[in-house]
Amino acid sequence: MCGIVGVVSGKDVSQKLFSGLLNLEYRGYDSVGMCVIKDKNFKIKKDVGKIEQVNNKVNFLSLHGNIGIAHCRWSTHGGVTKNNAHPHTGSRNKISIVHNGIIENYSEIKGELQKKKHVFSSETDTEVIAHLIESYLDIYTFEKAVREALKKIEGSYALGILCADEPEKLIGARNESPLIIGVGNNENFISSDIPSILTQTNKIVYLEDKEMAVLTKDNVMVFDLEGKEKKKKIHIINWNAEAAQKSGYKHFMLKEIYEQPRAIADTLNERVQNGSIVFGKEFGFSNNYLSKVNRIVIIGCGTSWHAGLVGKFMLEELAKIPTEVEYASEFRYRHPLLDKSTLIIAISQSGETADTIAALKEAKKHGVKTLAICNVMGSSITRISDGVIYTRAGPEIGVASTKAFTTQLAVLYLLTILFSKLRKTLNKTQIKDMIESIRKIPLQLQSVLDEYDEILKCAELYHNKQNSLYLGRGVNFPIALEGALKLKEVSYMHAEGYPAAEMKHGPIALIDKSMPVVFIAPHDVYTYKKVLGNIEEVKARGGIIIAIATEGDKEIPQKSKHTIFIPKTLYTLSSILSVVPLQLLAYHIADKLGRDVDKPRNLAKSVVVE
Ligand code: M6R
Repeated sequence: MCGIVGVVSGKDVSQKLFSGLLNLEYRGYDSVGMCVIKDKNFKIKKDVGKIEQVNNKVNFLSLHGNIGIAHCRWSTHGGVTKNNAHPHTGSRNKISIVHNGIIENYSEIKGELQKKKHVFSSETDTEVIAHLIESYLDIYTFEKAVREALKKIEGSYALGILCADEPEKLIGARNESPLIIGVGNNENFISSDIPSILTQTNKIVYLEDKEMAVLTKDNVMVFDLEGKEKKKKIHIINWNAEAAQKSGYKHFMLKEIYEQPRAIADTLNERVQNGSIVFGKEFGFSNNYLSKVNRIVIIGCGTSWHAGLVGKFMLEELAKIPTEVEYASEFRYRHPLLDKSTLIIAISQSGETADTIAALKEAKKHGVKTLAICNVMGSSITRISDGVIYTRAGPEIGVASTKAFTTQLAVLYLLTILFSKLRKTLNKTQIKDMIESIRKIPLQLQSVLDEYDEILKCAELYHNKQNSLYLGRGVNFPIALEGALKLKEVSYMHAEGYPAAEMKHGPIALIDKSMPVVFIAPHDVYTYKKVLGNIEEVKARGGIIIAIATEGDKEIPQKSKHTIFIPKTLYTLSSILSVVPLQLLAYHIADKLGRDVDKPRNLAKSVVVE
């Protein structure tokens, strides 16, 4: 996951590239770079660090030219180094390129080019594309050289490409990674997303897979890979000042849904060190104390309670530690049985929820230790608790919790790794596998966010329904609850979350031809086959099946009306991926109904009354 932006203009472009980059920072920020053409030469500045940090060092605005490309990186191939930062050029400095995606056959192509004496200066898959295009420039024009290269590469890409000898032309291309074109006045743009260029233009052309756009300052042409021109529609994006505050997103909820890859990456940042989990000084618990914990009680409300249910599954399944999850509002009036070996975990986005504060105070009366998982620094819950792990979701403004939830899951997963290690319930290889899998989540989340066509279709078809059911099992049962809660609170449509197998004990009576039933059914070794059976039961009664399934699943699409795929990951982590389409479904249904998505009726962001 990376952000790319490009501009070709009648004027200097560095300021526009820079402001585009700032808006794309959520897509990656381990290194950043910019390239302009001046007098048929590339002028490049790049380095490791966040955009502002690198700019303070290199001053991107000191680059002058009327055409340029820029990139913020979330590393996949090659470490976080200046050499691996984009843009990348070929050996002869004729081609400069920025890329978002993964080239699967890059090592094969690299080998072929090395035999032809190409010398590479980075470990990235991207640099191979620059060399490949350059190798074709001996025989083809710039445009044909790009087309030939695109035919040879396999994998995903959104590309911005410059040729030093043709300083009036910017080429953009996409396959399975997002890229849009902005049509301006005496200037044109490419970018990974619309909000990043909305202050420049609201005329947008959507590029499709395997399309290539050739931009000059006063013209945009789109071609397929055979060079056949394609006529494209210009879409006018309506936005206002408030929208600009939301980085161009219509609502904070949508912005926050799209921020999740960045939020999770931030939450993981510096907490995984040499195969160990390190929570920092505010965590406050020694390994010695944690090894003696033999029971965990998680408390929270609403979405945070759902996160607790996922946490229970993780902690019991992997760390083998008995875990209970309680509604904070029930816990405090129940005279809970607690002893010194019990750890209380309070989960709260705001850190100000009155019920959770009251429950924490009740727990403290029993002399047990308390740990807060919280998003707001210095909030009441963090001050009352003995230790804190901060989710680093950033400010969550939309009343419906989205990025706070997935970052809570990420923290619970890290905590599970820590307990598993201390309790020796998993071996080194299993822990390594868990760490590698969560590191992939931001990138996998981005791919879920980039594929929303089927979700839009469902919102269009079903936004006028009165009721819906959400069904899941195991770690995805709480996701069914969360999907239903999201829909209820923002669209006011009635929705119920159930364990899929419980359906036959009652809710099945609700199913008829007008009932949408959302199955959260990623592939797993536990209950997948049983869930297939549950899907059949709903199908037999005419229910409208919308399924969340793992990429490559052949059976679910045959049984469902709509299938939304998520990438393959560990079963416990599938919950982080499977909730995102449900957030988007709730958002788009509410938006279609004209609801006040960020401030749904009767709700508040922090519920500070009991
Ligand atoms: O700030 P908290 O996490 O303690 O808030 C708990 C609930 O009020 C909150 O999750 C609520 O259910 C959200 N509106 C859900 O989207």
